[in-house]
Amino acid sequence: VKGMLYTISGKVYDFLDTASEKRYKRIRKKILSPLKGIVLDAGCGTGRNFPYYGKHAKVIAVDNAVKMLSVARQRAKESKAQIRIEQETLTQLPFKNNTFDVVVATFVLWVMPKKDAQKALSELVRVAKPNARFYFLEYTYSQHFLRNVIILFTVSIAKLLYGIKIGVTLPLIKQEKSLEIENVELVYQDVLRLIIARKR
Ligand SMILES: C[S@@+](CC[C@H](N)C(=O)[O-])C[C@H]1O[C@@H](n2cnc3c(N)ncnc32)[C@H](O)[C@@H]1O
Repeated sequence: VKGMLYTISGKVYDFLDTASEKRYKRIRKKILSPLKGIVLDAGCGTGRNFPYYGKHAKVIAVDNAVKMLSVARQRAKESKAQIRIEQETLTQLPFKNNTFDVVVATFVLWVMPKKDAQKALSELVRVAKPNARFYFLEYTYSQHFLRNVIILFTVSIAKLLYGIKIGVTLPLIKQEKSLEIENVELVYQDVLRLIIARKR
């Protein structure tokens, strides 16, 4: 069942995600609208990032779930940026070394089994140019008891549907020697974390 939703329907995924998407809008815009150059949108899903890229970004968006990508294809039409979509797995990318100026992986590594997430991260590093910037978004546990109860409740459902794990992305990035963490910022309450890193 793990991650089953991605393979069933991108539309159902989008519907279930509507409420949380309201809170991500501002954050996505802030991160994505200034981006320039060749951008890899890794695990682009239904293309939730697409509306926020500016016209100076040339985006290559990949995901391995066909159903998610069919929604993404529609959404790409609304973007100011030029977007090319490919079905690929992040653990084995078909791109040459040092291809991308920017790598965006929003809510992605936390849905992958640890070994795959590590492999994916090293692939992302490989295809990024030296000094390329990386942007990650993930949920982390809260300092507040009640908020944690809510998160745990949401997560147990999401775990089944998407296979997510809270707070695993930052430790993974810390282990990746070729990445230097530039900034870690809580962007929604104390539960949503934006991690900015740079390829050494
Ligand atoms: C929670 S969604 C996030 C989608 C999008 N980045 C966003 O911000 O809304 C996670 C996505 O990662 C994709 N994914 C998971 N494992 C993958 C893999 N090995 N290769 C490519 N995509 C993968 C899933 O298909 C899904 O679309």
